[in-house]
Amino acid sequence: MKMRGIVQGSSNGAIGCKMLLIFLMVTKPIHGSALGNVLRPESEPNLEVLTCPGKCVCQLEAFNELPIARWVNHMARDYGDDSFLQQPTHTKLATCLVQSQDEWQELRDYLPTDLQALILLYTGNVENQLAVNTSSLRPLNQLRTLEIRGTGATLIIDDPLEFLQHANFEHIRLQASDRLQRPKFSKLPSDDYEYKPPSELLPPSEYSTKYPLQFEDAASDIVTYEQHMQRLKQTRMPSFFGWGRLEVLRIVGCKLDKLHWQMFDGLTQLRDLNLERNSIEELPPFAFSGALQLKSLSLAHNALRRLHYLGLAGLLQLETLNLADNRLERLSELSFPPLPKLQKADLRSNPVRYILPGTFWVMNDTRELRMGSDQAALDLRTWFIYGQFDSLNELRTLILGNVSTETLEQGVFKVSKAL
Ligand SMILES: *[C@@H]1O[C@H](CO)[C@@H](O)[C@H](O)[C@H]1NC(C)=O
Ligand SMILES: *[C@@H]1O[C@H](CO)[C@@H](O)[C@H](O)[C@H]1NC(C)=O
Ligand SMILES: *[C@@H]1O[C@H](CO)[C@@H](O)[C@H](O)[C@H]1NC(C)=O
Repeated sequence: MKMRGIVQGSSNGAIGCKMLLIFLMVTKPIHGSALGNVLRPESEPNLEVLTCPGKCVCQLEAFNELPIARWVNHMARDYGDDSFLQQPTHTKLATCLVQSQDEWQELRDYLPTDLQALILLYTGNVENQLAVNTSSLRPLNQLRTLEIRGTGATLIIDDPLEFLQHANFEHIRLQASDRLQRPKFSKLPSDDYEYKPPSELLPPSEYSTKYPLQFEDAASDIVTYEQHMQRLKQTRMPSFFGWGRLEVLRIVGCKLDKLHWQMFDGLTQLRDLNLERNSIEELPPFAFSGALQLKSLSLAHNALRRLHYLGLAGLLQLETLNLADNRLERLSELSFPPLPKLQKADLRSNPVRYILPGTFWVMNDTRELRMGSDQAALDLRTWFIYGQFDSLNELRTLILGNVSTETLEQGVFKVSKAL
């Protein structure tokens, strides 16, 4: 208990020092040797902090006090769920401002090897470019949290960082190196997937009487493994294969335009994936099938034009889904796979005009649904006996902006059980 008190004080700079001195002067003459033992464990890490490279600021502080905690604890904040909050242990963080490749090469060898968190901010100009290899970070094998930010920086993934738990990349480029080991598969994720939406289960004749609407969406082609490999190598699409302890991954504003299931393959601990502000136009089938423990997924501020249920296939633990500010125009029962734990869905700022029946049948535990955009007005109506919000049995909050319907039909908000 004494040790913790001293550390908290020392983070307040001068006050901590005074307290420490007074304590020393009062007690030393009496319990000299005992005091030495009490102080040693704390003074050691503080001395090491002083060996921090010149371009960096190093600190030893409670994890939740560090600037990285706000994105790591994102889920905890959203849900008030303490189980996501980090333990109140002290974390050794270095924050480094890097202006050029040379600066990075100089400082990386001087980073303390027991560093637990690293924030790398590229502040050089965009043409100058900074390239950081993941292999050059491997000696820092106690690193749990890594953040790299700054337009003009590129992270080259040439080796997995299997020890990392939290990664945040903002406004950088992510690229795979040619020598990156990619996952090998004897079968594709589709081999195990059994869900089919009701319309695909019915024989065509019955289907057309029960669902008198044409569904145009179709699954993208599922190509062979060899074709995948070829394509992935050409595009240098990053892959986090082997980053097996990753719990939080944010790739924000990184100009990511394609996703692939191999990107997130093997991320069995991942609970929070944020891909906001990229240029993603499509979710390929089984995009997240390697990260099935995901609790929150955000694809907000991208360019998604359509959703096919195979894109989000298998996310049975998902609790929040943010698809706000994309280009989705219509939703149908082919849009979403079963999401039995989904609590919150944000679909705002998508030009959705029509919600076809059965769209939300797979969201039977959802509490909060938000929709509406200034680009298109939503047509609220029923389809024969089906309403647009059928099966949202647990819904507490429904926010609909911009609705074109002038008179509401009876039953629009009726919440009836699916088939
Ligand atoms: C990245 O790693 C490779 C192989 O270890 C090395 O040849 C290359 O120079 C490194 N690039 C940078 C930018 O550090
Ligand atoms: C939602 O549907 C799933 C699968 O049909 C079922 O296991 C689950 O109990 C349902 N949840 C609620 C809240 O109705
Ligand atoms: C509703 O959508 C229409 C386009 O259909 C748009 O012109 C209008 O500005 C929107 N209204 C609001 C309040 O966003």
